Amino acid sequence: DERTFVMAKPDAVQRGLIGEIVSRLEGKGLKLVAGKFMRIDEALAHEHYGEHEGKPFFDGLVEFITSGPVFAMVWEGDDATRQVRRLMGATDARDAQPGTIRGDLGNDLGHNLIHGSDHEDEGANEREIDLFFDDEELLDWDRDASTWVYE
Ligand code: GTP
Ligand code: MG
Repeated sequence: DERTFVMAKPDAVQRGLIGEIVSRLEGKGLKLVAGKFMRIDEALAHEHYGEHEGKPFFDGLVEFITSGPVFAMVWEGDDATRQVRRLMGATDARDAQPGTIRGDLGNDLGHNLIHGSDHEDEGANEREIDLFFDDEELLDWDRDASTWVYE
């Protein structure tokens, strides 16, 4: 099964939406394999968002992502990366479809509640999981519901 990196951003934490976000991913049938409530420092922010370095919004993005605690997670499931992106909705929450996390709960491009690894960027998953978690923090376990989620 595929593993993907997901993060409830500082705005989601401040708004008390960690549970809602976790709930939506659990409800879809994805399996949580790691979670960490943490503060991102400047260096980690630069590494994590390295692809956006030099863009006009980069400094604001780093400032935002380091502004308060985040809840970092790893989720597992069939096609997990793409499924999470579908549940997240479009990057700009103002354009995100109703039914998605950003579409239902977000109102802004910069404050868009959730990060998920880019499914079009091969290797993004592994890179981001490695950046945020040690191997021993990823738990191997069987979710009993999986037999009812997938045929
Ligand atoms: P992440 O899951 O956070 O990576 O979002 P994403 O993959 O949907 O978007 P992307 O990786 O392209 O951009 C990263 C973050 O930068 C987005 O979540 C936005 O908050 C922010 N961002 C992207 N493009 C712009 C922009 O044009 N202007 C501003 N202000 N912020 C942007
Ligand atoms: Mg991205």
